[in-house]
Amino acid sequence: MKVTTTSLPLEKIETESLVFPVFENEVKNFPENLTTLIDLLKLDVNLENEFTGKTYETFLIPGKTKILLVGAGKKEDFDNRVALNLAGTAARRLQKSKVKSVAFDARLYKDPSVIIEGFGIGQFDPGIYKTGKDKLKEIEELIIVGEINPKNIKTSTAYVTAVNWARKLITEPANKLTPKNIVDEAKKIARDYKLQIEVIDEKEAVRRGMGAFAGIAQGSHQPSFMLVLKYIYNKTAETLGVVGKGITFDSGGISIKPSDKMHEMKMDMAGAASAIGFMKLVGEYKPKINVVCVTPLTENLPGGGALKPGDVVKALNGKTIEVLNTDAEGRVVLSDALVYAQKLGATKLIDLATLTGAVIVALGNDTTAILGNKVDFTQKVINASTQAGERIWELPIFPEHKEFLKSDIADMANIPPSRGAGTIAGAVFLQEFIEPKNSWVHLDIAGTAWLDSEKPYLAKGPTGVGIRTLLKLIEQI
Ligand code: BES
Ligand code: ZN
Ligand code: ZN
Repeated sequence: MKVTTTSLPLEKIETESLVFPVFENEVKNFPENLTTLIDLLKLDVNLENEFTGKTYETFLIPGKTKILLVGAGKKEDFDNRVALNLAGTAARRLQKSKVKSVAFDARLYKDPSVIIEGFGIGQFDPGIYKTGKDKLKEIEELIIVGEINPKNIKTSTAYVTAVNWARKLITEPANKLTPKNIVDEAKKIARDYKLQIEVIDEKEAVRRGMGAFAGIAQGSHQPSFMLVLKYIYNKTAETLGVVGKGITFDSGGISIKPSDKMHEMKMDMAGAASAIGFMKLVGEYKPKINVVCVTPLTENLPGGGALKPGDVVKALNGKTIEVLNTDAEGRVVLSDALVYAQKLGATKLIDLATLTGAVIVALGNDTTAILGNKVDFTQKVINASTQAGERIWELPIFPEHKEFLKSDIADMANIPPSRGAGTIAGAVFLQEFIEPKNSWVHLDIAGTAWLDSEKPYLAKGPTGVGIRTLLKLIEQI
């Protein structure tokens, strides 16, 4: 999509369509431009009866130049999130009408680069294996009617590329995207952005003491890898560790899942996709900190060699884990990844993981859960998330929650003795692998990484959640 800007009056712009964001109940006081335009085009529409301006409501006035009104909701609620999603709504609506060029009235936008981002994210087409003509076509030209710094056009475009790259990977079924395929993708990224890469295969993982990761990996015939991408700014700078759960298919292992919706478990590598996608941006932005990205990549399958409930494995920090349920595999593979990231020098860590179904019960599909060990770092990530327009909510880790780790024969078990607070149980387990001096947050994205039904601004399927938050975070560290 080509992006340009203009200050021409709307009726002079050569475009197939014009987009106007309109606040709720301001239909009567339409921007002067629009009213003039409607007069000029001699359009016979009584907008007041047709359109209220509620968030993401759309109204399309057909014609040689199509005019699309998009509800911006209440003025006082118009924040980054609405601004972004409004643009996504416009893109999706116009894409359906097979429009090739769009001029977007940026008057309501403090930062019009959000329009580029919303347009790019909104147009993602999950139909990657469709061969017929129901494949959606990309809008070729976006003309922003307003001012925007050319540098922002470049960075917003890079952001869209990274997010949609991650979403494509999450969409891929597990037979098309194995751990090895992700490694190949990461090699390309390392080459393109001159990042260091380390690929640890299963044998090497066992040799180095990553027994937790290797334990889960042994149930699958596909080769598994602990993948590391490193961006080194300089030796004395602080290192941020980004760790992403990369289960390319989670069948549950021997503690097998019910078949209903099991196919969705191809998305259990969404954390890894976001973490690696973020490294593309790191390569682009070149921040003044070091960033290491560690992703454990494996399937969780019940092959003949698979871990059995009750088996014990030893993680890289020497702690032993009794795997009482092989479907709680995420925390097991992440334990080695978190320890390894700290060995590589990370003192601030953020992990992204589709870890628990319980987070969907607690927070639904719009809100990511955040849990951490240091108040100030957790708050920083929450702030970054708010700026990013990604919803996040904190759950606690209290000393009492340590009871969730009780095992009769090992240092800890991978599931708690009783039900309840499943998301906290996941986090309290991960915390066992964080050195107390380091800052760490865990983002449980099981609810937010995948949409079961489409939104006006987003297709059904993968969201690429987390990348935007990470981006805002590195701007602040
Ligand atoms: N990958 C799942 C969590 C998940 C659920 C992700 C729904 C996306 C949507 C994870 O590995 C899992 O199976 N967790 C179990 C943990 C339980 C056995 C303690 C769960 O949430 O049921
Ligand atoms: Zn599982
Ligand atoms: Zn899983």
